[in-house]
Amino acid sequence: MVIAIGNQKGGSGKSTIALNLAIKLLEFSDKVLVMDTDPQKSIESFTNIRESRNDCEKLPHFTLANRTGNITESLKQMVGIYDYVVIDTRGSDSQESRKAMICADKLLVPTTPSQLDIDVLIENLGRVKEIKDINENLSVSILMNKINPNPFLAKELADFKEAIFRINKSIGEDFTCLESSLCERISYKRAVSEGLGITEYIDIKAKNEFEAFFSEFLENLNQSKSA
Ligand SMILES: Nc1ncnc2c1ncn2[C@@H]1O[C@H](COP(=O)(O)OP(=O)(O)O)[C@@H](O)[C@H]1O
Ligand SMILES: [Mg+2]
Repeated sequence: MVIAIGNQKGGSGKSTIALNLAIKLLEFSDKVLVMDTDPQKSIESFTNIRESRNDCEKLPHFTLANRTGNITESLKQMVGIYDYVVIDTRGSDSQESRKAMICADKLLVPTTPSQLDIDVLIENLGRVKEIKDINENLSVSILMNKINPNPFLAKELADFKEAIFRINKSIGEDFTCLESSLCERISYKRAVSEGLGITEYIDIKAKNEFEAFFSEFLENLNQSKSA
């Protein structure tokens, strides 16, 4: 299964979600690959920290491949070897992100709730719609990330969903906006700096949120596969 994480917007949480998703997938298979197509190689620092931990041998590990340019051939090879391939893309409309979307079963679009992101999202989802002409089976999920955990600001979430609804309508698509969302929590940075996934970290709230997202994501994926 090939899962691409894409959004042109830098800072929306692509790399954070890619590595946490990969760590979570290690519970299901030891053949998990992260293909980092961003020349900044941001996932490498995480794997370096993880591999230098004293308890490194007790931890499960995903394989990291840094690839840029035309990733298609490399991807085809990896699909034969790994059960799950998670592709992290960079914050721009790049060759890598287009190739990733063309080859993927699933596209996850993390988005933060600022208006600026919504504008980028309209452009971004318009492009995804074009990719779907080629990769008809691509299942697309939008994940709201960095939501303010203050319940008084729940309006932020409602406004966000409304905006996605309007975008879908304007481009004539029905991309799923996941019910579960990820809050802005310092634990994401802390876990990464310790070489741990959020589901391995001490922050139970953050862990539960990520688990809820993961279950919904898998459910959606299975539904779209059986459709
Ligand atoms: N849910 C979250 N809560 C707190 N910080 C987050 C969250 N998601 C991402 N971040 C932080 O936001 C910054 C950008 O995230 P990153 O994953 O690098 O985004 P991208 O890969 O899309 O550019 C990083 O410092 C990361 O730790
Ligand atoms: Mg990144």
